[in-house]
Amino acid sequence: MHGTQHSATMIYLSGLVGFLLVLTAEGRVGNSSQLQFCSETEQCLLFDLICETDQYEVRHYDSVRWVSTNETSYFMEIAAMRAFRRLYEYITGANENGKKIQMTAPVVVKMSDKKFWEMGVYTTSFLLPAEHQMNPPKPTNDKVYIHDMPDMKMYVRSYGGWMTSLSDKNKANSLSSALDSVGAKYKKGFHYAVGYNSPMTMFNRHNEVWFVAEDEPICTSSSEELEFSPFS
Ligand SMILES: *[C@@H]1O[C@H](CO)[C@@H](O)[C@H](O)[C@H]1NC(C)=O
Ligand SMILES: *[C@@H]1O[C@H](CO)[C@@H](O)[C@H](O)[C@H]1NC(C)=O
Repeated sequence: MHGTQHSATMIYLSGLVGFLLVLTAEGRVGNSSQLQFCSETEQCLLFDLICETDQYEVRHYDSVRWVSTNETSYFMEIAAMRAFRRLYEYITGANENGKKIQMTAPVVVKMSDKKFWEMGVYTTSFLLPAEHQMNPPKPTNDKVYIHDMPDMKMYVRSYGGWMTSLSDKNKANSLSSALDSVGAKYKKGFHYAVGYNSPMTMFNRHNEVWFVAEDEPICTSSSEELEFSPFS
């Protein structure tokens, strides 16, 4: 999987995808049939896989536009529930034209580091579908805002089951340890908790933890030979 031929194919494919995107100007919001674990919405956030180890993936995400809201709470569960309701109102008509906007995946919650007994600010975001990336309808609720996430490389670990404060914290801690042990540089102080399923879905749930990569991403693990990324 990590051979040079694979890498060459990856470069070719990401070049091609980049070219197509310039033509369509739809960011990287695309058909969910292209992403196996994103199965509950028609459109999903797409990415290029740069490399992977047995501990994490490195992905490249193009700049995309989200609709977001902040909520302060002791618990992610409570903040996310309130935020979800507000964003759901936006996509079901609480916007300037009363437009219905289709649900997409993933839903992303920005988790700032905090102590258990402290209040935290949680930013929850829905991805705007391709047709609303350029000109999203203005939210009528002033707590809801449109937010551009820049082009980023992300360290990613996936897990199943339910996303809770606890499961997210465990996965984030083990991912940051894995990154520290190979000397990978990433933005400190926050990470993203990322969900792909509705709360009604019982099986094959998919969640992720994201850390924003800084410098050139590192894709080595203790069991692998050091190899230089062709993307540097
Ligand atoms: C997504 O892809 C599937 C399979 O390739 C196709 O049947 C479907 O029409 C596509 N949906 C959209 C919205 O383009
Ligand atoms: C929302 O919270 C983020 C921190 O996650 C902060 O940087 C941002 O300024 C806040 N935005 C608004 C509109 O309150």
